[in-house]
Amino acid sequence: MNQELWTAVDDYFDALLHRPDPALDAALQASEAGGLPQIQVAPNQGKLLWILARSLNARRILEVGTLGGYSTIWLARALAPGGHLITLELMPNHAEIARANFVTAGLDDRIELRVGSAVELLPALASEGGASFDLVFIDADKENTITYFEWVLKMVHPGSLIIVDNVVRSGKVIDPHEAESRVQGVRRAMDRISAEPRVSATALQTVGSKGYDGLVLAYVIG
Ligand code: SAH
Ligand code: DHB
Ligand code: MG
Repeated sequence: MNQELWTAVDDYFDALLHRPDPALDAALQASEAGGLPQIQVAPNQGKLLWILARSLNARRILEVGTLGGYSTIWLARALAPGGHLITLELMPNHAEIARANFVTAGLDDRIELRVGSAVELLPALASEGGASFDLVFIDADKENTITYFEWVLKMVHPGSLIIVDNVVRSGKVIDPHEAESRVQGVRRAMDRISAEPRVSATALQTVGSKGYDGLVLAYVIG
């Protein structure tokens, strides 16, 4: 079992199941050309986000951590007619590239990108008292995941889905003594999620072109 095989299997399913996609290809190219870290979700993970959002008939989607907008494009495409997506990004240079990618993808009319730290943007968003979100994708700095989960809980409803990316980190998540602050951040968030009666959650390990990682699916039940 190795990275080469995982990537080859991803490529095999990609070629079979995903149609050519110039807008997504362009978004990846612009992100790379702009020097952004290549840490966006893999194509099959993007498609999973799309399928989940579609299945929920999501009209309001929130994303924490935009990067170049690759996952955002997958999610925004799944919005029900008239739907709206809000995505939060700390870095102005990431936001600038993402904005251009949304225009290229023809999705800028339904995506609202807010620039700043989600630690401040989420309380501001909550205080606006807008309609709740049907799906939330938390994928920013892992140290603050617990804070994001806390705020997001105030902006969802029974039937919403909260997805948290990168919770396995090559298996480091099971080591309570792991020094990496991102892993400690994930562990704190996992403890919080496990103790939250308003969600019923599970976690999946994933292997593929992005290595060995995983995600949490937290379904809001009350
Ligand atoms: N969701 C994207 C990948 C996001 S990478 C995709 O799959 O395509 C994580 C992003 O979170 C980076 O762009 C980083 O700048 C951003 N980020 C880091 N700290 C943040 C914070 N405090 N608030 C908002 N965004 C943050
Ligand atoms: C990292 C962040 C991500 O969102 C991701 O999907 C992979 C890696 C990181 O910070 O290392
Ligand atoms: Mg991620």
